[in-house]
Amino acid sequence: MGIVGAGPAGLLLSHLLARQGIESVVLESRSREYVEQRVRAGVLEHPTVELLREVGLGERLDARGLPHEGISLRFDGGDHRIDFTDLVGRGIVVYGQQEVVKDLIAARLADGGEIRFEVSNVRIDGVTEDPLIHFDDGSPQEMHCDVIAGCDGFHGVSRAVVPHTVFDRLYPFAWLGILAQAAPTHHELVYAGHARGFALYSMRSPEVTRLYLQVPPDTDADTWSERRIWDELGVRLAADGFTLNEGPLIEKGVTGMRSFVAEPMRHGRLFLAGDAAHIVPPTGAKGMNLAVADVRVLAEALTGLLRHGDETGVDAYSQTCLRRVWRAEHFSWWMTSMLHMGEDDDPFTRRLQLSQLRQTVSSRAAATTLAENYVGLPHGSI
Ligand code: APR
Ligand code: PHB
Repeated sequence: MGIVGAGPAGLLLSHLLARQGIESVVLESRSREYVEQRVRAGVLEHPTVELLREVGLGERLDARGLPHEGISLRFDGGDHRIDFTDLVGRGIVVYGQQEVVKDLIAARLADGGEIRFEVSNVRIDGVTEDPLIHFDDGSPQEMHCDVIAGCDGFHGVSRAVVPHTVFDRLYPFAWLGILAQAAPTHHELVYAGHARGFALYSMRSPEVTRLYLQVPPDTDADTWSERRIWDELGVRLAADGFTLNEGPLIEKGVTGMRSFVAEPMRHGRLFLAGDAAHIVPPTGAKGMNLAVADVRVLAEALTGLLRHGDETGVDAYSQTCLRRVWRAEHFSWWMTSMLHMGEDDDPFTRRLQLSQLRQTVSSRAAATTLAENYVGLPHGSI
């Protein structure tokens, strides 16, 4: 079995298959250091946390992860808490994606798993007859596989091998994200829908705050000085009794926002999983969780196929995943639309947003819908 990409999708798939006695080789174009340091998402939904614990990956997660029982929506100068525990009886854990990646790499290597870092020129062939991966690791190599998993992210090579239809949307804004050496002053995430644009207050540890500002899509991060970033965060996140600890920046970068789905997620013996097949804007914190949900379904399906010759799971793979994918697409689009200011938004649009925000924080039914989607729908329930 060949897996292209050592992000959360590829590494977790390799780990889940190994537990079923199925060997795989993971091919990654970057170095181990690079994938372990790359700062990405940070929210693990409930089903993700449960799965990681179940498969022996809970130790560092439980020691270092920050369990949260709710989030705040902040608008019109007011703060409104959505209490997940009260509404749906489950919460989330804030734990950086690169920490999940570190845990997975350590587990694979400890179990004798094979991850080839810094390979180049990966090319996939023969997926309807005799699947084959060509790559270079200093010299040209060929790897014949029963099955190939394309877990190589949005810019990988796998998706192009699957004849597919694209459904997508680009948003007229981006996020400027910073990681700051500053103790969080608030114990949960704050999503602010300010008239000047969206802001998000998050964290990574008791010493490190993660913050985002909505900016125009073509923004050069260098045009935002530290002072300007802190001042703008102060304005957009302002609420009674709320202060922001400032501190030196560890990281600063701009991320575009898009929604994207490629259908189907399979061609012959090639299966796409994670960002290779779909992208969500980060507002719903679903990207890494969808990658995990895909490979959970894929590992079960491949166990059926490779251990028992049962094709039922693989035949249903794409449809099963796409139901959850579209739920997350809708949720992420909805959160994004409710909280961001488009350049061309008129006062009518702003009033609709405020009405939607007010309903979400004042109706238990509406708040429950947000909570249920945010903490994640149970495996197999959708
Ligand atoms: N050959 C080998 N490896 C490749 C290639 C290639 N041609 N192209 C990309 N890769 C590697 C990337 O370097 C990366 O390590 O594939 C990996 C894909 O990992 P991710 O982009 O993290 O994607 P995925 O595992 O699906 O996880 C989705 O990542 O982008 C975030 O927010 C997103 O949290 C979500 C998560
Ligand atoms: C983060 O901490 O990086 C984060 C949290 C919530 C989001 C997006 C990003 O919706």
